[in-house]
Amino acid sequence: MNFQLSEERQQLQETVREFAQKELEPDVLARDEKGEYPLHLYEKMGEMGLIGLPYSIEYGGSGKDYLDYAIAVEEISKVDASVGISYSVSTSLYGGSISNGGSEEQKREFLPNVLSGKSLGSFGLTEPDAGSDAGGCITTAVKKGDNYILNGLKCFNTNGPLSQHFAVYALTQPELGSKGLSCFYVKKDTPGFSIGKIENKMGIRSAQVSELLFENCEIPETALIGKEGDGFKIAMKTLDGGRIGVAAQGLGIAEGAFEIARKYLMTREQFNKPLYKNQYLAFKMAELECEIEQAKYMLYKAALDKSEGRPYTISAAKAKLVCTEAAMHVTTEAVQMLGGNGFMKEYHVERMMRDAKITQIYEGTNEIQKLIISGSLFR
Ligand code: CAA
Repeated sequence: MNFQLSEERQQLQETVREFAQKELEPDVLARDEKGEYPLHLYEKMGEMGLIGLPYSIEYGGSGKDYLDYAIAVEEISKVDASVGISYSVSTSLYGGSISNGGSEEQKREFLPNVLSGKSLGSFGLTEPDAGSDAGGCITTAVKKGDNYILNGLKCFNTNGPLSQHFAVYALTQPELGSKGLSCFYVKKDTPGFSIGKIENKMGIRSAQVSELLFENCEIPETALIGKEGDGFKIAMKTLDGGRIGVAAQGLGIAEGAFEIARKYLMTREQFNKPLYKNQYLAFKMAELECEIEQAKYMLYKAALDKSEGRPYTISAAKAKLVCTEAAMHVTTEAVQMLGGNGFMKEYHVERMMRDAKITQIYEGTNEIQKLIISGSLFR
């Protein structure tokens, strides 16, 4: 077992860290305030090869692995968790749907535009009445000649208003429930497909999240990913990978807030001494440091499980649970340690605390992660 990142991974980490600090950091508060997404910087990440990191070169990827990708999402999310999730949804959820379920031809056709960062990708599974119970979808895809006709509504769709490419899950055989669910590729501007309500959110405010509306939306049968009825399993497998991305996002948020608190405790003086000289605060930081390190090892293990071909459903669920709980805990403690300043926008930790909350909820709530983990204990 080797706990040291290779020189190549350290180099990648350094490059992404520098990009995040130089390019993402300067306007992160303004983007949070206005709810605006930095599309030009996302495109730059594409040019750096980040979006396609864990995919082969023939699909427009960079030929690296899931640990490299997790490290990149972590570094981006230390500074801007909105870009972190938008990146992760394109790479893990859109890319994962196509690569887990698609034919060779479909992978060559539907992956490169997103993996190059030229456009974003989205994942349409959740519906108003199908959240944790993902198998409860009611959007339908009815076969008509050589086409499918989609009708229904998807909600909470990250990247929705910005994406050109969508992986959408719909029932081809409603009477079979989740076993009748199928996965489809849908292109923006397909007649009958439109973007519905754009959400106004508590956190990750710069990420764009919307409804997807399908009204007699006709797509070719060649857009079916996998076979009819494969959709639920494709979605579940894809979410296993997505949870590694959210874990990396959570870890990055925790580390970003920790570093702000650490610097603050060294510079802020009260009662004629820097704050860190109060053992209560120093010990608190020691505890948070251990929590972050534990979370990091769990994330890196899950990423390596996936990269090296071991089962990763459970390790991804554990990493998602532990990293995102750390995100919420560390950011909440950071706001408290910064006192009145922590409550103010220019110190960043209040934004990080708001951003952390959703990491405990999306891509399977942390209660769902406990369901998955506990389910593996009593077989
Ligand atoms: N990989 C492959 N197959 C899997 C699987 C996995 N990880 N998990 C389950 N399956 C298979 C099962 O083996 C089973 O197959 P058989 O019928 O052949 O035996 C089938 O799928 C059904 O499995 P379950 O009976 O376990 O399914 P369930 O209906 O009880 O649901 C669940 C299980 C874990 C609760 C699942 O519904 C789930 O993960 N819910 C959470 C949904 C979720 O994460 N949504 C996030 C939306 S995306 C998002 O947040 C977007 C964003 O923009 C950030």
